[in-house]
Amino acid sequence: MAGTPPPQIVRTRAELRAALSAAARPVGLVPTMGALHDGHISLIRRARAENATVVISIFVNPRQFNEAADFEKYPRDEAADVRLVGGAGADLVFAPTVEEIYPAGFQTTVRVGALTESLEGAARPGHFEGVTTVVAILLGLSGAERAYFGQKDAQQLLVVRRMAADLGIATEIVACPIVREPDGLALSSRNVLLSPEARAAAPVLHRALMAARAAYDAGERDGEALRAAMRATLAAEPLGTPEYVSCADPATLVELNRIGGPALLSMAVRFGRVRLIDNEPLP
Ligand code: PAJ
Repeated sequence: MAGTPPPQIVRTRAELRAALSAAARPVGLVPTMGALHDGHISLIRRARAENATVVISIFVNPRQFNEAADFEKYPRDEAADVRLVGGAGADLVFAPTVEEIYPAGFQTTVRVGALTESLEGAARPGHFEGVTTVVAILLGLSGAERAYFGQKDAQQLLVVRRMAADLGIATEIVACPIVREPDGLALSSRNVLLSPEARAAAPVLHRALMAARAAYDAGERDGEALRAAMRATLAAEPLGTPEYVSCADPATLVELNRIGGPALLSMAVRFGRVRLIDNEPLP
């Protein structure tokens, strides 16, 4: 955006604290792992609209990657990220090194219970411990009044809310809607890793969610019938290998047999070495 001053970049815990000690309140924090896209930008714009100071963290957090190869190949482009963040009106970028977040002697892990054991937690052992540990550090360092998370990672959002409530962290956790490509594919930093064929096939996740939603809208209230509708749509796309499909209670993430209230449809599908997730809340 013409005329927008570039954001200040800080790299250490001490610099972040110093920069925020003088900052106008309230402070809004948007935690990210970089490789920013319009989904991230929507969170930054929301934070910009609701806070006097907006901080973005960019940190590819090794502790939440359960596969070393996924961590290595995770896309990184700080210069492009800083330009995007500036254009969206953020004031401050916190881009620490791994040693700055996890210095020698670091030995604390934040672990949330049952909510982390299904779906993504079952498929990715240790993933949520990595997420909650780093988010606790970021909330503590920033002292933000609000922190912004995407509904794209619905289980992460629930787990972070649980952690904040349980630990008495005062930061308000704000949920933001999923941003999609015109063909329905949810924006993700991992989308650039898809082959052209896999990219063409990837909207099948959204189509599967829409098939289950259509059945729900037509009156279907059997959880297994909705899971079957999603599986049937996914099965028509041989490039994608489903890891799980779920129709769960949106508060507990326990699978539903009978839908008597709100529900969360979700899934993970592998395209070669790239794993995509998506979800749709009901109603
Ligand atoms: P990352 O995948 O970079 O995502 C940062 C934030 O952007 C998350 O809250 C995520 O839900 C949101 N987001 C991603 N894609 C989105 C989309 N298409 N629409 C709306 N929001 C979207 O999630 C993480 O990083 C990390 O786990 C983190 C919370 C930063 C901890 O390391």
